[in-house]
Order: sequence, then C-alpha cells, then structure tokens
Amino acid sequence: MTTSGVPDRTAPATTARTVAQAKINLFLRVLAREASGYHQLETLFCRLELGDDVVVRTDVRNRSLDASGDVIPPAGLGPVDRNLAWRAAEAFAKATGWPNAWAIEIRKRIPVGGGLGGGSADAGAVLRCLNAISPAPLPTHALLALAASLGADVPFLSMDEPVALGWGRGERLLPVPVLPARAVVLACFPFGVSTPDAYRWLDDARDSFSPEAAVLELDRLGSWARIAQLAHNDFEAVVAPRFAAIATTLNEWRSHIDRIGDPEGIALLAGSGATVFLLSDRVPSALHDAPEPSPRIVRTSTATRVVAVEVSD
Ligand code: C5P
Repeated sequence: MTTSGVPDRTAPATTARTVAQAKINLFLRVLAREASGYHQLETLFCRLELGDDVVVRTDVRNRSLDASGDVIPPAGLGPVDRNLAWRAAEAFAKATGWPNAWAIEIRKRIPVGGGLGGGSADAGAVLRCLNAISPAPLPTHALLALAASLGADVPFLSMDEPVALGWGRGERLLPVPVLPARAVVLACFPFGVSTPDAYRWLDDARDSFSPEAAVLELDRLGSWARIAQLAHNDFEAVVAPRFAAIATTLNEWRSHIDRIGDPEGIALLAGSGATVFLLSDRVPSALHDAPEPSPRIVRTSTATRVVAVEVSD
C-alpha cells in the first residue's frame, strides 16, 4: 500500500502460495550403487491431487516455519532447521543472496514418512514459491540443481510437470505425456520405513548389481494399461518381508485387481514405504484381511496438472 491507501501495483509481491502435491512412483528400479553410497535410479514419477498447502512470506524480520495438520506424528517433525522445506529456503538464500528472512506455513495432509514425497514436495513448493517472488529468479536448470542438492525426489517435485521419467539420482528428468486422472487409494500405516535403511537392505540382499538390458519406449508411458505392465518397485522385495501389514495389503489389492480383471490396475509400495497404493477403477470399500496395525485409508487421484504458484503482496 502507498501512504494514500491505494495499493501500489509496482511493489514486488512478498507472498506466494501453492499446493505441494505428493508423488507416487509408477515404477521404481534401484540400479548400481555409486562410490558415494548413493544409488542410480530409474523411475516414473506421478503427482497426486493430495497435497500440503504451503505459504511463503518474505515481508518478515525473522526466519520461521510453522507446520500444522493431524498427519503430523505426536513427536512432531523434528528440528526446524533439519526440515527439508527450511533447508530449501536456506539453499535458495545462499545461492541467490535473497531472502534474509521468511515465514513458511505448511498445512500438512500428506502422511509423514510414507514414501509419498511429502517433505520433498514441501521443499519443492518452497523453491517454486521463492522463485516466483524473487527479485532475480533462477532459470529452471539452476532451480533443479538446487533441488537435487536436497534429495532424490525434490527435482521432480520442483517442476511444473505432473508425470516424468526420472533417472540418475532423480535429477535427470523427462516429462512424459499427461495421463488421464485415475482414482488412487492409499493405505497409510502408523509406522514409517527409513529410506537409508531400505537402500541398505537392498545392498545387503544384492552382493553385486548387474542390470538387465531394457528399452523404455516412450509411447508405452502414455497409456495406463501399458504402465500397469511396467509397474514395479524394487524396494518391495526387501520391505514387504519385514512388515507383514505391507505384504498383506499388497496381496489383497493384487488379488482384487486379478479378480475384477482390471488391465489398468496397479498396487505397489510407495517409494521405500510404508504407504501402499492402489490404482483401480473399481476400488474396494475396505481391506478385508485387516492388516495389523491397520492403515488409515486415504482416497485421492493422480494429478493432470501441477497447481500453479499464486503470488500476492
Ligand atoms: O533422497 P533422500 O533424501 O530421500 O535420501 C535419503 C537416503 O537414501 C540418502 O541419504 C541415501 O542413504 C539413500 N539414497 C540412495 N540413493 C538415492 C537416493 C537416496 O542411496 N538415489
């Protein structure tokens, strides 16, 4: 506002908001382990409609992060400066010299520690928000490089594309044609699976890694029936045997897909777990085998667009 009370349209925007949409991996292969300990990946990322509301304000004096929502575990989200959304703002400020201060507000809906990329989606949303109101926005490749320094899921979750093939450590991305929206059911367990542990279990299960030759055909990625034939997650082999509730849920939903003969049905572990997801046009009303502990069932759908960043002063 100017002193006359008339909004000053030339003033830069200081607030940006968006929805940090979760992701699932429609296939996920863990390839060779690098000397650094990281693993090469090959994955098809897909955004969901389910997301956290993220607001970033820069007309403030201090740095703060406020997260709310009943998906937050009783122990909280841990120290604020270890939160990926905070680290994203810090990385942006370090790379560009702006901003000095921020207030990040996150209304969480994505289950925490479930393999749905919630923390990474928040980080991606903070990067997109800051870039939208920055006096000197970064070009896309520089923003994605910053995102890659924060984790394997963050580059995809900093992009405006709802579906992409990802490889390398997740920082090499090829957007693929948007797929029609499909209903998704999530079985969200009251426990998480540690991602570093899951990679370690895979390493222990494989003394060496010899990749099978594979050709990924782009036109196979444009149809749900063809993606259903490619659906796979390497983590299931080491995660499902350790968590009976995950194995039971995967079995039940795969039997459902077989029973109804759904050629587009997909039931997979989300990332390294613990969430299990089902894509099916005829969704069962409940889990009959009652896995223990029982999951919270969340219904959403795949996204056909990434929610834009809205800016205001
Ligand atoms: O990327 P994110 O922060 O989720 O990774 C958590 C941990 O998982 C890493 O510290 C590493 O131990 C392991 N990881 C890996 N290879 C990747 C991604 C993650 O070994 N491509």
